[in-house]
Amino acid sequence: MTTADVDLAKFLTQERRNVHLIGVAGSGMSGIAGLLLQLGHNVSGSDKLDSLETNRLQRLGLKFYQQHRAADARDAELVIYSSAIKKDNPILKSAQESGKRMVRRAEALAAIMSAKRGILVVGMHGKTTTSAMAAHVLREGGLHPSHYVGAEIPILGTNAHWDARGEFFVAEGDESDGTIALFHPEHILVLNIEEEHLDFYTDLAAIEKVFVQLIGQTSGKIFYCADDSNATRICRSSGRGISYGLSVNADYRGSDIDLRNFASAFCVYRGKEELGKAILNVPGEHNVRNALGVIALATELGVRFEKIAKSLTKFQHARRRFEIKYDSPRFLLVDDYGHHPTEINATLKTAKSVGRKRVLTMFQPHRYSRTKALRKEFGRAFDQADRVVITDVYGSNESPIPDVSGQMIVDEIAAHGHRGVSYQPRLGWVHRDVGNMLESGDLVLSLGAGNIHEQLSILAADLVIAEKLKEIVGEDGDVRLYEPLSKHTTLRVGGPAQFWVEPRNEAALSELIRFCRREKLPLFIIGRGSNLLVRDGGIRGVVVHPSGGDFDKIDIDENEITAGVGAKLKEIAYAARAADLGGLEWMEGIPGAVGGALRMNAGAMGAQTFEKVVRVRYLDGDGNAHDKNRDELEVHYRHFPLLEENFAVSATFRGSPAPREQIESRLHESQEKRRTTQPIAKSAGCIFKNPDECPAGKLVDELGLKNSSVGKARVSEVHGNFIVNDGGATATEMLQLIDRIKQAAKNKRGIELETEVQIVGESA
Ligand code: EPU
Repeated sequence: MTTADVDLAKFLTQERRNVHLIGVAGSGMSGIAGLLLQLGHNVSGSDKLDSLETNRLQRLGLKFYQQHRAADARDAELVIYSSAIKKDNPILKSAQESGKRMVRRAEALAAIMSAKRGILVVGMHGKTTTSAMAAHVLREGGLHPSHYVGAEIPILGTNAHWDARGEFFVAEGDESDGTIALFHPEHILVLNIEEEHLDFYTDLAAIEKVFVQLIGQTSGKIFYCADDSNATRICRSSGRGISYGLSVNADYRGSDIDLRNFASAFCVYRGKEELGKAILNVPGEHNVRNALGVIALATELGVRFEKIAKSLTKFQHARRRFEIKYDSPRFLLVDDYGHHPTEINATLKTAKSVGRKRVLTMFQPHRYSRTKALRKEFGRAFDQADRVVITDVYGSNESPIPDVSGQMIVDEIAAHGHRGVSYQPRLGWVHRDVGNMLESGDLVLSLGAGNIHEQLSILAADLVIAEKLKEIVGEDGDVRLYEPLSKHTTLRVGGPAQFWVEPRNEAALSELIRFCRREKLPLFIIGRGSNLLVRDGGIRGVVVHPSGGDFDKIDIDENEITAGVGAKLKEIAYAARAADLGGLEWMEGIPGAVGGALRMNAGAMGAQTFEKVVRVRYLDGDGNAHDKNRDELEVHYRHFPLLEENFAVSATFRGSPAPREQIESRLHESQEKRRTTQPIAKSAGCIFKNPDECPAGKLVDELGLKNSSVGKARVSEVHGNFIVNDGGATATEMLQLIDRIKQAAKNKRGIELETEVQIVGESA
């Protein structure tokens, strides 16, 4: 150690000074602030963000400034800065100009550690978990260790702690910027060494050089994982190495591993001697290895194995390390911080071993440089995932690199032969893509060091509601999340339904109505979606599609036909023919079901729905059933107000006995009319109500707007009141075209066209 280092160590651990931290809200910096406060310094800190950590530290005495102003650090005798701080930071610049002492975070940590017997945990993967586990086991072993780890660890209380009573200091070293070379610890624990952080290192050799230097600066033992070839090669030759792992020649060896759902049991040997059995309540084989490293360390420091085993059983690890976000018999949602291919592989292996049917993964690549450098490895990392949705790169503090995006990883995974990978550049939509794939028995894993976990949290919150909805509709009903409504509208346009629910009977529908009212969830009923234009942002809340079961039933009793709201009008026309009932043939030409026909008082061939209705059964806003006769109902052209607040269950229509040939001929007439005057392309039927002046189709025709289009939305050349989807049209395009027609009708003919098609949902 240089004199400067010794000076700094004395300054930080034996004196009481004024210290300022720039970027104090970061997980690493807040740990240093915590240590300094416990060491008795006057600590101030600045950051553009505040956090739970800065709030906690303020209660312990931190003077926090939510901006970087030179004046706030005027009295500081030392300035500590995070590597994320830019060179033009006002406090950094003014400290530099006034010749103030300034050190990086890792320098401060190394100096604090040097006042104790330091134990540094290093390696590319598993540092936080392992350093936390080590601090926990040594603490349970009565050694009163101080600690510093890179994340909040509930079982340790805080991310950093200074304990004046103990000799040891356990810290997580950060190899990403070469600063582990600043440490002179007593012992080190080397978990693994491989290519990472290629934004800083040129290659593996450059990484190894830093590790070799650290080994040279370590006075005591070098604990290393015998299962990692790079770590073994570099550490073995030191002569002070103690190996651990699953390899047969490891000094501390695990065997007979039993990987259970979220725990592992294994036997521990030191050489030939059996130390005993350990149970670790953290999943995954890689964590068995990490635990063996901790067992080796604690044993060598004199903690009895029984004590170690007992504390391992109690250990719970950091947030975002295989963290269960939602667990039910049908679904399991897990979040993990894994962002390097090796970590992804290990986490997926763990996920697979949990024993659910499929593993669905959402992954947010972290840093452009890593995405680019390890693209091939990423391509091979997802073999154990059944489905993978990749979003765009989380840059951290990096600027984008041309052509480096999530698509690059998608291409690599696909080129590697995976058939279930897709790209969702819009992060806020990732939960929708994955949620819509969900089937009972799935495990969903969010992976990445950025903010992908927020997507999993949204999914978890919606899943709580979806499961309640499923309970209501029962085994034969169906519930899906984020169902694209383009699949359920004849126009083939529309964003997703937050909750898509298919009840099969009146009791379930009634319960759904009550549930939505209680939970203040918007409820929207959709039938065949033949008269519906859903905006591209979809529909928030519960979208109920009563179909199948009782809702599709058609019963005939003499001249009356009773049909559920899910029954197709076409089926009613055919059922009437089979019973020799006439007067309902026009129903053949309407693509909708009973519910929509009632709601719209739909019509064709000069007839309309309510001319034939005898009775309607519906549920009110409280879910109670009512039956109303036709004469009790208020009905208008293309409008039946009762169903604005209530929900139809079934309707009874009256036919009149007629000769079969007459029925056949009217059916034929309707079919011919449709065939010759209406397009077969995807549409929502007539877009506009017929105004008093003239049929809307004729008007559009006369305005010369047939065949005019916006994107893939086009006015049919067959009929002017139909807008057709040429494939992949958006609601936005449809709405623009509708607007254009309305403007023209108004400007050129003074006619206010009113849409017949229902326009619902949110913009994207
Ligand atoms: N016409 C034109 N050019 C066109 C389209 C129509 O000149 O591009 C003329 C026709 O020649 C006819 C008149 O406009 O003289 C009316 O047209 P059509 O007979 O096709 O009837 P419509 O009023 O346009 C109505 C319903 C349709 C139903 C048909 C067939 C409305 C808004 N539309 O259309 O219902 O299928 O009758 O009976 O009431 C629907 O509501 O979604 C729907 C498709």
